[in-house]
Amino acid sequence: MSVDILKISKDAIEASKKYDDVINASIGMFYDEDKTIGGMPIVFQAIRRLPDEKVLPYPAVDGGKAFKENVISWVLGKYEKDIREKMYINACATPGGSGAIASTFSVYGKPNEYLFVSDIRWQYERFADRAKMNLFEHKLFKGDQFDMESFKSRLVELCQIQKRVIVVVNDPCHNPTGFTLSESEFKTLIDILNEQVNNDIIFLYDVAYLDFSHESDNRIKMTYLPLLKKHVFTVLAFSGSKTFGAYGLRLGAAIGLSIDEAKVKDFHSRYVNEARGSWSATPTVSIELLNHFSLPENKKDFLIGLDHINTLVQKRSASFIKQAKEIGLKTHPFRSGFYTVVLTPNPDEDYLKLQEHHIYAVPMNGGIRLALCSLAMHEIDGLPVKIKTILNL
Ligand SMILES: Cc1ncc(COP(=O)(O)O)c(C=O)c1O
Repeated sequence: MSVDILKISKDAIEASKKYDDVINASIGMFYDEDKTIGGMPIVFQAIRRLPDEKVLPYPAVDGGKAFKENVISWVLGKYEKDIREKMYINACATPGGSGAIASTFSVYGKPNEYLFVSDIRWQYERFADRAKMNLFEHKLFKGDQFDMESFKSRLVELCQIQKRVIVVVNDPCHNPTGFTLSESEFKTLIDILNEQVNNDIIFLYDVAYLDFSHESDNRIKMTYLPLLKKHVFTVLAFSGSKTFGAYGLRLGAAIGLSIDEAKVKDFHSRYVNEARGSWSATPTVSIELLNHFSLPENKKDFLIGLDHINTLVQKRSASFIKQAKEIGLKTHPFRSGFYTVVLTPNPDEDYLKLQEHHIYAVPMNGGIRLALCSLAMHEIDGLPVKIKTILNL
């Protein structure tokens, strides 16, 4: 995907100064119904109230002991204790989930080698470019289901070409489709990784939207990680930008897990070195924001706000999908999340046609991605019909 999403979003903002019917569905930022960004006053207040010493000094490069413990607890939730009993774990703060992804490619990838990704995906090619790596694709869907056969056969193929394979899985709330693996699909995927015993697998599990899935237990899949054998090293890429709706702060973490202690030690020292030699350290304010909301009394209030956001995002997506189904507007299989993709024949031309009608969305392989997280309910009302009519679908 060669388009610049940030530029499309800027164009939409400019257009909205001239026209009052602009629909900006270009970017994955949550906006509340009154169009306030991030949607959680409690987060803005916490940022503003942090004392100087939690904002200005250099932080520890990996985020420090408290941050590491907090971010691991945050991501593993109530399963932390059980997972810690079975696996070694460490973490390094990163500037957003992006920092965790970029450093994983840099630490574990080799120029000219392949990264294993799905054919429909977020912009991993940008990170691959920087690491001078190529992409090796599997099909994401077969009909309305995750294409497990393609995942397996293509992985086996790649495992015969190179010893170390970085396997990128973006779940839950896959960007751009909103697909979320079921527990049993995730378990099968773990089994497939375990079968590649002659390889060195780095399982980069991009959980940027972990806190936004509508699963009944959005941490349950973590309980399958301890089943991974010694040849698989897991890196969880956490995005505080998404969880806290604080996109510009650059908060994230790479969490490394393995049943092999030496691999986890190696992970930590290499990510710290990577950080020191590139972005240096993650902003202190971001690290302290996560520490602040990890205190039980603060987390409780945060989760109330998060629930409000999740309920709204769910309502928006349900409304869009329902309307789309009623008029036969096709989308990729959707389960939960910030986005959906409307299937169109010529995405590169179609997104420009939509722009002529003040609808800003992003062209993707096979369709147009709409960031439903950023639209108010009244903007979603009638949007599928407009898209169908404009694109003559
Ligand atoms: C799938 C996916 N992973 C990771 C990220 C990285 O987010 P950030 O670097 O803002 O934390 C994003 C952001 O859009 C994303 O969509």
